This record gives sequence, structure tokens and C-alpha cells, in this order.
Amino acid sequence: MDIRALHEAVLRQWASSSPPFAQEARLKAALAAPGMLYYRYLYTLVRILQPGRILELGTQSGLSALCMLSALPEAGRLITVDSRPASGYCLRPFRSDPRLHQVIGNDLDRAIYGDLDLAGLDVLFIDTEHTYTQATQEWCLYRPCLRPGAIVVCDDIHLNPGMERFWRELPAPKLDTGDAIHASGWGLCGYRADPTEADAWMC
Ligand SMILES: C[S@@+](CC[C@H](N)C(=O)[O-])C[C@H]1O[C@@H](n2cnc3c(N)ncnc32)[C@H](O)[C@@H]1O
Repeated sequence: MDIRALHEAVLRQWASSSPPFAQEARLKAALAAPGMLYYRYLYTLVRILQPGRILELGTQSGLSALCMLSALPEAGRLITVDSRPASGYCLRPFRSDPRLHQVIGNDLDRAIYGDLDLAGLDVLFIDTEHTYTQATQEWCLYRPCLRPGAIVVCDDIHLNPGMERFWRELPAPKLDTGDAIHASGWGLCGYRADPTEADAWMC
């Protein structure tokens, strides 16, 4: 799906699209906070795409993973990674869900995944340390795992000059959704199978 059409579909559907856990007072507030609408965005995006494989870089509390997991089809798989062992507390009740794989470690080290197969990713969510070097290294490391047409979601693309540069250099097609979804920026990139000079230059 064309990324602009995808974004518009998310915006059309998200008013009527709320994760099943969203009534819990604590989570309801987090999901509705102004400038933090990206949690519901992720839920709706996954509901629309029905992806087979998602990789999230940066679990933190696990709320974004929980939003995606809630919309993931039965046969889908969500791998979420964070360097902090205490990350992912929102995911505790779902630890036995066969769709969920929580990995602890530095995401620049592919060995942390052990036997988990990362090939054929449909969605990659980049959301760890928001620096040019980190985001670029992540893009270069995980790009070969993307299937053609995969969606790369980039958080905080306007947080600092490094992230602005990362976003600028990321190859098209891409869509900057502005600051309404997340105050520090939110972008979608559609992965093409044919690498361009821009891709090669970044890596
Ligand atoms: C912005 S938070 C993630 C937020 C989460 N995706 C959400 O939307 O709720 C960034 C997380 O990335 C983790 N992180 C930073 N550098 C990392 C690295 N090299 N490998 C894995 N995780 C990393 C941090 O520990 C932190 O929990």
C-alpha cells in the first residue's frame, strides 16, 4: 500500500479503533495524551496491515508493543528489543503469548536474537536512542531483513538535528506526518527492494 494512502486510512479508522485494554484508567490517559497519539496510531496501523512480522527497536514500558500486539493476527510475530532488563512491564501479562518475543540486549548486536529469524519483516519500528549514528546504524543493520513493501515507522524524527538529518537522508518513499501524532515527529517510510544510491550512501 502507498504510504500516504496508508496514513490516510489510519487517520480515517483510528477514531473508531481503540485497543481492547484502553479502558484501564492508567493506560487510557497515556493513550489520549496530547501529542502522544502514536500509540493508537500503531494499533490502527497494525490492524490495517495485518503484518506477519514486526520488529520494534526500543521496548521501554512495552506500551507501544502492547498496542501492536493487540492488533496482530494470530499467526503474526512481534519481536521487541531493549537494552534495559527491566523494560517491558506492560507486557508481563502477555509473556506466554506465542506471538510475542521480548529480547534484552543492544540492538546493534544481532547475536542477541539467538535463533529468532528476523527475515521478511513487514514492519520495523525505530525508537531507541534518538541520535543520527544510532538510527543510521539500525537502518543499515535491519534493512536487509525487510521484505519489499515493508513499512518503517520512525519516531522522534524532529527531536534533534541528528534525527532531522537521519530522516532527511532516509530514502523515499517517505511521509512526515507532522507533530500531531507525536509532538517530536513521526514518519513512515516504504521500503523498496531496489537499493538506490541514497541507501548505499547511508550505509
Ligand atoms: C523512546 S524509548 C522506547 C519507547 C517505546 N517504543 C514506546 O513508544 O513506548 C527508547 C528505549 O530504547 C532503549 N535503547 C536505547 N538504546 C538501545 C540499544 N542500543 N539497543 C536496545 N535498546 C536501546 C532504551 O533503553 C529505551 O527503553
